[in-house]
Amino acid sequence: MITEIGTDLNKAAALLQMGELVAIPTETVYGLAGNALNENAVLKIFKAKERPHFNPLIIHLASWSRASDYATNIPAEIDLLARHFTPGPITFLVPKKELVPDLVTAGSAKVAIRIPGHPLTHQLLSMLDFPLAAPSANRFGYVSPVTAIHVKEGLDGRIAYIVDGGACEVGIESTIVDFENGSVIIRRTGKISAGMIESVLGKEVKLQTSAEDHPVAPGMLKSHYTTTTPLFQGNLAALNKQFKDQKRLLLGWGTEQEILDCVEEFSNNPLISVTSLSASKNIDEVARRLFGAMRLADASGFEVILVSYFPNEGIGQAINDRLQRAQHHLK
Ligand code: TXA
Ligand code: MG
Repeated sequence: MITEIGTDLNKAAALLQMGELVAIPTETVYGLAGNALNENAVLKIFKAKERPHFNPLIIHLASWSRASDYATNIPAEIDLLARHFTPGPITFLVPKKELVPDLVTAGSAKVAIRIPGHPLTHQLLSMLDFPLAAPSANRFGYVSPVTAIHVKEGLDGRIAYIVDGGACEVGIESTIVDFENGSVIIRRTGKISAGMIESVLGKEVKLQTSAEDHPVAPGMLKSHYTTTTPLFQGNLAALNKQFKDQKRLLLGWGTEQEILDCVEEFSNNPLISVTSLSASKNIDEVARRLFGAMRLADASGFEVILVSYFPNEGIGQAINDRLQRAQHHLK
């Protein structure tokens, strides 16, 4: 199969109607889409990604007003949040209706629903009379793609078409919001922070994302978002000492000089390279550039990738979460 990149939505729609797979741009990361109501198409998604079947998929709709076609008994607070934040980088876990295949939800009684904000994907969804099941368009366990080229790197020859919507605005996967026993629970952090959700609801929400031993969302297993090159997150000066004999990339923010200033013996050390994810210390820019920088670093022949911590608030929390999950564990 030849994987073409383009912006022909009629072609994308026709392929999806035939049960084929198409990668789609969203404001968070690219998705690998198929007809969510067609089990054969959904099976193709798992196969192309090499993703285990116990890991459920998000369904994407053009508008939240269609959510009740696929979900029932939607909690009022979830409905309120959805009206406030969609289209946008947020996903809701709600009780599913029977027409949603168990394969999509991995047998769970809840389905994950997202209304992506990207104009091309919005238009594509409006052309279809079924929702699109779409996990991130990477091979299972690897870094999510934020450009059409990233998708092609991982899935070339496995899917029919990639809709090119440019570089993703947010760069980090959607916030996942659940509802249980009267409480709103964040299952995965993202651009929409707990604080933003709390200010809409006027009450506190819970954060339950660390699901390593009890994977509520199996996508939250630790072995996610990994580069092949070992990656470590921490204090750059300490990490730099620890890996002083290795050819290494330092990833941080501020000017490159500022990053170098925080490690000791830096003057023209041929083993050290530096990349700033945002010279002006803009945390949204860090999010937007992170996955691309991780992929580039992985392809550049470093022995280790060393990344600083970012302030743990707002989208910074999601950035640290992804980096922690991408971390290599020394035996
Ligand atoms: O930003 C995003 O959410 C991107 C774009 C393409 O929409 N999608 C994405 O999908 O990140 P994926 O499959 O890589 O991650 C979805 C996460 C997984 O951790 C999965 O376990 C969880 O959502 N999930 C999906 N359906 C679920 C369900 N019914 N119950 C619990 N967790 C669910
Ligand atoms: Mg993923």
